[in-house]
Amino acid sequence: MTSSPPKNPDAVKASKDDVNLLNPKLPDGPSAPYDMQTTAETFVWLNDQIAVYPDIFTVKPEKRKDTALLVNHPDYLKQILVSKHDRYIKGVGFERVKMLLGNGVIVSDGPFWRKQRRMIQPAFGKDVIEKLVEQVKQANLELLEKWKPLAESHSVINITDETNELALDIILRALFSDDLDGIFKQHNGNPFAMLTDNSERDLKMAVKFRGLTKIVADIITQRRESNADRLDFLSVFMDARDKETGEAMSDKELIDEIMTIIVAGSETSATTMNWSWYCLSQHPDVESRLHAEIDNASYEQSPGFEHIMELGYVRQVVEEVLRLYPPVWLYTRKAIEQDTLGEFDIVPGTDIFISPYYLHRHKDYWDNPETFDPDRFLPEQIKQRHKFAYIPFSAGPRRCIGDFFGIVEAQLHFGLLARHFKLSFVEDHPVELAPEVNLRTKFPIKMRISYRT
Ligand code: HEM
Repeated sequence: MTSSPPKNPDAVKASKDDVNLLNPKLPDGPSAPYDMQTTAETFVWLNDQIAVYPDIFTVKPEKRKDTALLVNHPDYLKQILVSKHDRYIKGVGFERVKMLLGNGVIVSDGPFWRKQRRMIQPAFGKDVIEKLVEQVKQANLELLEKWKPLAESHSVINITDETNELALDIILRALFSDDLDGIFKQHNGNPFAMLTDNSERDLKMAVKFRGLTKIVADIITQRRESNADRLDFLSVFMDARDKETGEAMSDKELIDEIMTIIVAGSETSATTMNWSWYCLSQHPDVESRLHAEIDNASYEQSPGFEHIMELGYVRQVVEEVLRLYPPVWLYTRKAIEQDTLGEFDIVPGTDIFISPYYLHRHKDYWDNPETFDPDRFLPEQIKQRHKFAYIPFSAGPRRCIGDFFGIVEAQLHFGLLARHFKLSFVEDHPVELAPEVNLRTKFPIKMRISYRT
């Protein structure tokens, strides 16, 4: 039996994912070619384009090979990140990250990524995080002691540097726990401090940072030789066995995953805490509610894992900061199979750009998007919203592995430090965005610290 040709060719195209590969139907977009990057220039350019094409638009490549789409509609994002995620891999820009991090889980793809993600996932379960919270607590208690005399004298502190150093300290403690002191002694200080001392992420920096892999390799060897019993990310990574082959990670794999966690887990958390202190200083009503919650919480000295449920408003504040200032403000995918997004055709090779910064300000999904309002994250408000209108940690199988750790880290930081201190913004520079790989502040933020009482 032969099937008769369809009367209406569109009817066939509309069925499943049949895509017109030769003449794909693309959304409208600017006529001039352009290559999007994680730069201030692209940030401004995107703002102009999204005003015209709020949901999706096509960008003709300038020097690159493939056509790109900026996708800013939650339904399409759900499809790319979740329901049809296997048709997309990591895209433009990740080659640069690869120079810094090797083939760690943030850049790898396919079966290798799946294996590595399975291997490191147990380290991010609630049971391990609950124990690692001790390290987060210690780092914050040391900061408390450091800030006490500064508060006595109402000094001006550079909160951008302070939060950068704290977040690096926390992630290193979480990775290496009791081995960290030894590393510092051996290197006369913190060899990883180059990350906080230098915000460039160029080739020179990548080469320098990769030089640190020797330190990580030495710790792995020492642990193997001494059979040391530790509770930290590294020990969970070293104990992990592939469920199919029973094999542990090789040294190279371990090193790449550790370097990945150091960078992915410190810069994002640091910018979140930095922006949070700034937002609190600009919104006294929010700050008072946060203080009230912290003051009424049941801990005596320092919050622990058992107190995070009491710090619900702190969490809402952090979530609202992540809405307005998502550290990962622009990231990419590449289509490896054909797909359709609504009426549009996606041909293999298409570059996809996703910007949580602009999505989180989409007028169809957020009322008064520029207003700082942590009540947007009350459970009843979350329920009413499109789930994919808010993706600071991305979504689907490649969702941030450290999302829970990152939020708990911020809750414990404010739960302790904001109980004692008030930070007031010192206007020595206007606060401007620096949209680089992470959405930082262009100039460090200065704040006057004083005791709350
Ligand atoms: C507020 C803090 C954080 C934010 C906003 C954030 C955001 C993100 C985003 C958007 C992605 C997905 C990127 C993409 O798909 O291209 C991601 C991936 C990742 N993040 Fe985070 N992150 C945060 C904290 C952390 C922490 C604390 C860790 C580790 C301790 C971490 C480790 C990772 C890793 C390993 C990946 C790659 C996951 C994979 O591809 O399987 N992140 N993060």
